[in-house]
Amino acid sequence: MLSQLDSLKTEALAALDTLSDEAALEAFRIDYLGKKGKLTALSAGMRDVPPDLKKEVGAKLNEVREAISGGLSTRQEALQAAKDAASVVGIDLSLPGRPGAGVGTLHPLTQIRDLAVRTLRRMGFTLADGPEIETEWHCFDALNTPADHPARNESDTFYLPDGRLLRTHTSSVQIRTMETVKALPVRVIAPGAAYRRDEIDATHLSVFNQIEALYVDKDVSLADLKGTLEFFFREVFGPKTVVRFRPHFFPFTEPSFEIDVKLEAKGKEARWIEIAGCGMVDPAVFAEVSKKRGDNLFDPEQVTGFAFGMGLDRLAMILHGISDIRHLIENDVRFLQQF
Ligand code: PHE
Repeated sequence: MLSQLDSLKTEALAALDTLSDEAALEAFRIDYLGKKGKLTALSAGMRDVPPDLKKEVGAKLNEVREAISGGLSTRQEALQAAKDAASVVGIDLSLPGRPGAGVGTLHPLTQIRDLAVRTLRRMGFTLADGPEIETEWHCFDALNTPADHPARNESDTFYLPDGRLLRTHTSSVQIRTMETVKALPVRVIAPGAAYRRDEIDATHLSVFNQIEALYVDKDVSLADLKGTLEFFFREVFGPKTVVRFRPHFFPFTEPSFEIDVKLEAKGKEARWIEIAGCGMVDPAVFAEVSKKRGDNLFDPEQVTGFAFGMGLDRLAMILHGISDIRHLIENDVRFLQQF
């Protein structure tokens, strides 16, 4: 048996050198190492080897198996290397590249998010974060939104079987932040995804992007809110931008406003465009947060705050005159190349 194994090894290694493609190598593998292969057949002979020789024959068997499978991988690698080398024949890898060819830019949404974040950071806001899968409490209850509010409807919100939901706005990060901070002031921004069960059309997607801001301290006023937003929109749309605050309602702010900016599309008359929601944090929100925290850092008698939120997709669309929100997710280079 020992000599049989030796000659099988010699035969196999010689055969390997003549093989020149993957199919032949695979046939070789089956022929020698496969379940019905030559080596397997020989190793069945172990049964008849006398006990005092078993150790020696076993070692030989392993040696031959390793030699054949090692030879096979070496051959596979050599063939692959030859293939790689053939594929670059005639290509001079030392030539300099063509400047500018294929260099991309940031997605318009990324650009607007970065601009928004950069602008607000200059005013002392820091980044905050929260989960996209939220509890009803963080998304609605703590934000003073009653159980029968239409936004909480199954038809408007994606609920998970366990009762959690995909957050419908980034305002839940207001709560997440106030739940955990250790001291005032709180001055945070939170860009992120929000989800609504909207019919998808030119202005709606079921996943979109918002940026939220929250500022809480002992003496935050509506003037601070106005100043912050006017500065913000002038940075985004230009120094002459006019901003208007229109009374509105949100459950978690009082008073609440919608913000319009006056913009002129090229060649058209200027018009007011609704762009964000904002307001002074409703004391009921501070009360709910205080109940959860069990301390008085957010005592509604002591602190005031403002919050605002806006759609980043919408901001990008207005800024660039994009007529259909779906362009932002289709990744068509003819669209993306323009930014
Ligand atoms: N969360 C509100 C929305 O999605 C926007 C908002 C944020 C309003 C903060 C007031 C304060 O429409």
